[in-house]
Amino acid sequence: MIKVAPSVLSADFGNLQRDVEEICNGGCDFVHVDVMDGHFVPNLTIGPVVVSAIAKAATKPLDIHLMVENNTFFVELFAPLKPEYISFHIEEEKHPHRLIQKIRSLGIKPAIVLNPHTPPESVEYLLKDLDMVLLMSVNPGFGGQSFIDSVIPKAARLNEMRNSINPECLIEVDGGVSDKNIHLLKEVGVDVVVAGSYVFKHKSKAEAIKSLQI
Ligand code: DX5
Ligand code: ZN
Repeated sequence: MIKVAPSVLSADFGNLQRDVEEICNGGCDFVHVDVMDGHFVPNLTIGPVVVSAIAKAATKPLDIHLMVENNTFFVELFAPLKPEYISFHIEEEKHPHRLIQKIRSLGIKPAIVLNPHTPPESVEYLLKDLDMVLLMSVNPGFGGQSFIDSVIPKAARLNEMRNSINPECLIEVDGGVSDKNIHLLKEVGVDVVVAGSYVFKHKSKAEAIKSLQI
């Protein structure tokens, strides 16, 4: 069954505790946290003060998605919150293998994110050391954008690669995910989906989450 990680970026920040509790009680698998620094992406979101409030309210593990320059600094900043995953963009990291080892040494599962233009082959020699690869199906920076279809053949290609190199490594897709594309994502072997606006704008967050757990 596909696992669902609602993106808190689409939550009501005036009622953050309530919204995080609602998605956790609604059966989500992870809580997806988008950290943006205003440099790697043209948006600025949340730091450790707010993420620790999210961690306190959450009864499901955190999936922290870094969209930042200086990944190592942010990994060290968020490690004390004990997230399940920390993912960083390969486009912004000169030494991804070293950072993977650092994340793992902190007791956190390492994941790498690929922007829409970045080929799956860019992680070929890292796959055996990764717990997850996150494919962006929008340009990182904002919630509520439309799904970029080219992620489907890309996920299919990555699925073949991970099945031969490291079948334990999960494939996650982030951006524009809804009940309209979840079946296509399932067909090409995607294991985890991030959904922001689809879950938080739905009349029932629990129902939205269930509709993606196919
Ligand atoms: C975009 C973020 C996503 C975003 C998803 O940079 O990484 O996690 O919040 O939101 P939707 O599901 O609305 O595209
Ligand atoms: Zn994200």
